[in-house]
Amino acid sequence: MSNARPLSSLTLSELRQRTSEKWRHYPSDVVPLWVAEMDVPLAEPIQRALHDAIAIGDLGYPMDDAYLVAFAAFAARRWNWDGIDSAHSIPVANVMTGVAAAIAVLTDPGDTVVVNCPVYPPFYSYSERSGRVVSEAPLGADGRLDFEELEAAFERARAKSVRPAYLLCNPHNPTGTLHRTDELTRVLELADRYGLRVISDEIHAPLVLRGDFTPLLRLAGAERAVAVLSASKAFNLAGAPAAVLVAGRNGADVIQALGQRVVPGPSQLGVIAQSAALTDGDDWLDILLEDLCARQELLIHLLAEQLPDARYLPGDATYLAWLDLRSLNLESPVDSPRGDMAGESGPAAYFLEHARVALSGGAAFGSGGVGHARLNFATTESILRGALEQMGRAVGNRH
Ligand SMILES: Cc1ncc(COP(=O)(O)O)c(C=O)c1O
Repeated sequence: MSNARPLSSLTLSELRQRTSEKWRHYPSDVVPLWVAEMDVPLAEPIQRALHDAIAIGDLGYPMDDAYLVAFAAFAARRWNWDGIDSAHSIPVANVMTGVAAAIAVLTDPGDTVVVNCPVYPPFYSYSERSGRVVSEAPLGADGRLDFEELEAAFERARAKSVRPAYLLCNPHNPTGTLHRTDELTRVLELADRYGLRVISDEIHAPLVLRGDFTPLLRLAGAERAVAVLSASKAFNLAGAPAAVLVAGRNGADVIQALGQRVVPGPSQLGVIAQSAALTDGDDWLDILLEDLCARQELLIHLLAEQLPDARYLPGDATYLAWLDLRSLNLESPVDSPRGDMAGESGPAAYFLEHARVALSGGAAFGSGGVGHARLNFATTESILRGALEQMGRAVGNRH
């Protein structure tokens, strides 16, 4: 097993030994291109740190500061951002724990949380299960923020709530949209005008294929915003989770309110693995990003060859592709409800049954998701090629 090119290192039979959700949710003849896990070995510095910890039995309570220090150095080095410090930050168990905690302290039950559909399904389920009302501001046809929609949603939220919030996905899952600095500045101006607090989920931030990531809190106007970050997507550490919730400079109320609550923190294994990734993982990450660009190119080529009627606007970030499959007119069993991460509906259900390829069903991502599916291209060339060929055959063999 070579660690030199992470995305070309593993074979299908090695991957099938994994017990994670990606590999065990479906029967073993299904090629899983759904949940956001990557088909890579762990970066060598992470492997070493975990081995060393186990060798010396280092599984006591974590020193949270170690994670903050590692994240602060990573953010300064890669994004020119020095906003992560212990006065403004709290380590949390994972990103959605941080998002849920931010929603809990910044809004009240019955208040509106604005999201940009299509969006990561738990944005709905976490908000709604805590008694908040989700209001959708759809992305434009180009996959970018639509400021008319956003302003209308902010206005509605303001009218209906005492303490509304906006849950931004930066970069955006599932479209891979990398929000530009000017767009984020406009978001902050609008949120300020209508009195919404902004919560920015930045879990995909290190996964930028082209251009630069802008941390929301680096911008003027973000003093009362909150961001939640983690190394778990970029280094494939969802099973060794850790995350950090960072408040802007005038977000002392958030840190204070969180201090009054029980917010689960990261595990020691998460802190060890992610700190090693953030401190010593740059070289591995840079190679991964090159490979993800190549894989995205391959996907574009394979779609043209196998599914010429599929529409795909390649995003500049993440390893997720949002496929518009409406013109394939695939027979669609009942669509799963929005917010249901495991629901495969419409084209995803078709491809699962007829191609034995698992995608994420589009309806779960909110309004506009019907007829779409999300494909995870963080896999080897041969797995991606094989999956698209099976999908092409399934569509060609339809009649
Ligand atoms: C936008 C976004 N937020 C949060 C998560 C989940 O993060 P965690 O497992 O740290 O809660 C994901 C996982 O794919 C995601 O895409």
